[in-house]
Amino acid sequence: MKSIVIYNSSTGFTKKYAEWISEEAGCECVNFKKGSKMDLSGYDAVVFGSWSMAGGFTKLAWFKKKMPSLAAAGKKLLVFAVGASPVENPEVDVALRNAFTDEERKIAKIFYCQGGLDYDKMSWFSKKMLKMFAKMIASKKDATEDDKKKAEMISHSYDISDKKYIEPIVAELR
Ligand SMILES: Cc1cc2nc3c(=O)[nH]c(=O)nc-3n(C[C@H](O)[C@H](O)[C@H](O)COP(=O)(O)O)c2cc1C
Repeated sequence: MKSIVIYNSSTGFTKKYAEWISEEAGCECVNFKKGSKMDLSGYDAVVFGSWSMAGGFTKLAWFKKKMPSLAAAGKKLLVFAVGASPVENPEVDVALRNAFTDEERKIAKIFYCQGGLDYDKMSWFSKKMLKMFAKMIASKKDATEDDKKKAEMISHSYDISDKKYIEPIVAELR
């Protein structure tokens, strides 16, 4: 199967997952800037990786627009989303449910890979947004212990990425 991984990454977690997938599946891997201009007709499978931002997924609209024609041409479509939330966080499911319609779920398989936060590589704006978000959660009138833990967690860098999350994706490409 000739496959390609196209990824959009800001601080490197999605890029790392894309490279792991391409190494394990033995396929090409390109960033969004290059991949979004490519002719994908020569591939049997297209994998798209996006990072999570404020409950949505960056550049996903671009890929979703392409999905119907790629699916009609018989291509296998896989999407992996990368976020700072641990996989067991219920917000992950909610975000993924909101991001895709039932029709889209029929033509693409969707995966989640937990990433992390890297304040050193983040833009000034991203840093500011996250700091504001952490403050907002912690200062809620009815803030729970979980809210406080979350606010503490997102106020600094961490890496909860793990290669094991690519296993089901790579299995689809074999
Ligand atoms: C402004 C902003 C909003 C974010 N919103 C979410 C979110 O809603 N859910 C989540 O899991 N992670 C969120 N994140 C964390 C990123 O998705 C996470 O750091 C991811 O690993 C970044 O991927 P990248 O390194 O490929 O850019 C947010 C990060 C920033 C900067």
